[in-house]
Amino acid sequence: MVRSLNNTTGASPRFIYHDSIAVMAIILDGRAIAARIRDKVKTRVEAMTVKPGLAVILVGDDPASHLYVSLKRKACEEAGIRFELFLYPSTEATESIMTQIELLNQREDVTGILVQLPLPNQNTDQVIAAIHPNKDVDGFHRENMRALSEGRQSIVPALALGIMKLVDEATHQISPPAKGELGGGRTAIVVGSAIFAEPLRYLFVEHKITTERVDSDDLELKSKTKTADVLIVAVGQPGLITGEMIKSGAIVIDVGTTRIGDKTVGDVDRISVLPIASALSPVPGGVGPMTVAMLMLNILKATGIQNVKGKM
Ligand code: GUN
Repeated sequence: MVRSLNNTTGASPRFIYHDSIAVMAIILDGRAIAARIRDKVKTRVEAMTVKPGLAVILVGDDPASHLYVSLKRKACEEAGIRFELFLYPSTEATESIMTQIELLNQREDVTGILVQLPLPNQNTDQVIAAIHPNKDVDGFHRENMRALSEGRQSIVPALALGIMKLVDEATHQISPPAKGELGGGRTAIVVGSAIFAEPLRYLFVEHKITTERVDSDDLELKSKTKTADVLIVAVGQPGLITGEMIKSGAIVIDVGTTRIGDKTVGDVDRISVLPIASALSPVPGGVGPMTVAMLMLNILKATGIQNVKGKM
């Protein structure tokens, strides 16, 4: 049987199955999916009488951090979300930043607070803990992490949400689950740090996907990645994952980013992986744009929580 799938959800190119074996993986178009989400956010913001507002704290002059913040500013402005930037020198005292956060916690017009990481010299844990959990649009506050781990309502890190959305999109395009099913019973392998894998593990549980984390220097790396129906890689080592490390038909999400000259590349060797996998989230154009879009959704969520709970 030859089956071709229509590209309705931003994937490119169309792909063809021969007797259920994918000839070439679809490349998940994170930019297109993110653009649709940002359009929806914009429509929702237009309907809101009290508009959401994001305050961003940016410390130091790391070019990558400044670039990420400029992307967040652009996304907010396009969506009609107020954006305020608080810039500090890299030597700013931790206490001074915490005092600013306290002021932002009190302001009703600021419904989201984000501290761009990494902080150059400050105590990150103390700074994040100063943010009110209902305004913590990064979902990094320990209260939000705990709520997620206990399956309670919480703000979830945008990167994890973006990855989950890409996995959902891939799942629906490759073999849509029957009505009422979540497409569960699968195994996900996450190659990366524990702090990166943790929120993903909880999200995957909700989708009945079992998760195992593996370090990139694990001697069994290849035999473990080969068991993955869903493989997520966030290491920052170009070419780490090759086709021979992939289970046939796996969904592969590349989260690594390494600058090589004027190009950004991921951890996945695209040429050897594409004929084996069923879907690949590329770098650039995969999780990057998704993370910004999911941040916009988190700002709406935080605004909603604050409206329900009233003044804090
Ligand atoms: N630095 C790299 N990724 C992130 C992120 O998702 N949020 C913040 N605040 N800083 C980051």
